[in-house]
Amino acid sequence: MDEKVILITGASGGMGTHLMNWFKKQPVKLALHYFEQKIAEPATDHCQFFKADLTSEADVNQLIKAVLKRFGKIDIVINNAGISKSAMSWKTSLDAWNETMAINLTAPFLVAKACIPSMRERGSGSIINISSVVGQTGQIGTAAYSASKAGLIGLTKTLAKELASNNITVNALALGYFSTGMIADVPQIQQEQIIDSIPLKKLGDPAAVCKTIEWLISTEAAYVTGQVIQLNGGLYM
Ligand SMILES: NC(=O)c1ccc[n+]([C@@H]2O[C@H](COP(=O)([O-])OP(=O)(O)OC[C@H]3O[C@@H](n4cnc5c(N)ncnc54)[C@H](OP(=O)(O)O)[C@@H]3O)[C@@H](O)[C@H]2O)c1
Repeated sequence: MDEKVILITGASGGMGTHLMNWFKKQPVKLALHYFEQKIAEPATDHCQFFKADLTSEADVNQLIKAVLKRFGKIDIVINNAGISKSAMSWKTSLDAWNETMAINLTAPFLVAKACIPSMRERGSGSIINISSVVGQTGQIGTAAYSASKAGLIGLTKTLAKELASNNITVNALALGYFSTGMIADVPQIQQEQIIDSIPLKKLGDPAAVCKTIEWLISTEAAYVTGQVIQLNGGLYM
C-alpha cells in the first residue's frame, strides 16, 4: 500500500515529540522538521529529519524541496512549530511581535504555499494548523501570540475554501493547555491558576491531539474541512 507522507514542523518540541512517537508506530513516512534542537533519533527509511528556520522563505522552500526529493510527495502537513512570548501589549517589542507572527502565522502560510502546487497536481492533501484557544478568547499578556493564532484560523478557513476543489482539506486544532512543550515555561503558581480556570480541571493529554489528527487524516474525515477543532477542556465552547 502507498504509505502517506506526513510533514511535522517543530517535531523537536514538546507536542512535536508526541506526534513523532505516535505516528512512528503507524504505516506512514515521516518528514520531521527541527530548527535549533536536533532530534536524538536515528533516521530510517520511514523517518527523516530536516532542519529549517521557518522564518526564512528560502529555508521553507528548501525544506519542502528536500522532503519532496526524499519521499516523492507530501500528503499531510502538520504546521505545529510555534513560539509564545509573554508580555503585556504595551511592553511587547516590535521585534517580539514580528518574530511571533513570522513563526506562528507566516511560516504556516509559507509551508502551505510551498506544498500546495504538488498537492494540487496530485488532487489530494491535508493541512493541519495548530492554533490555540487564546486566539479565540484572548488572554492577558499574549497580544502577539493570540493575534498570530487567530490569524492562523483565518488562514485555515481561506485555504480550505481555495483548495476544496482540489480535494485538499485544511483544518485547525485550537488547543487549550497541554502537559507538554511551552507550558514548561509557565511558573508553577500560574500553572495552578490555569488548571483552576479549566472546567475539566486538568491539563490536556497530548495523546488527544495525536488521536484527533489521526482521525482528521483518515478517509472517514475526508468531508471535514475549514474546521477549528477545540481541544480545550471546556475553556471555550
Ligand atoms: N503545549 C501547549 O499547551 C500548547 C497550547 C496551545 C497551543 N500550542 C501550540 O502547539 C504547537 C507546539 O507547541 P509546543 O508546546 O510543543 O512548543 P515547544 O515545545 O516550545 O516547541 C516549539 C517548536 O517550534 C520550533 N521552532 C521555534 N522557532 C522556530 C523557527 N524559527 N523555525 C523553525 N522552528 C521553530 C522549535 O524548534 P527547535 O526547538 O528545534 O528550535 C520546536 O520544535 C505550537 O504551535 C503552540 O503554539 C501548544
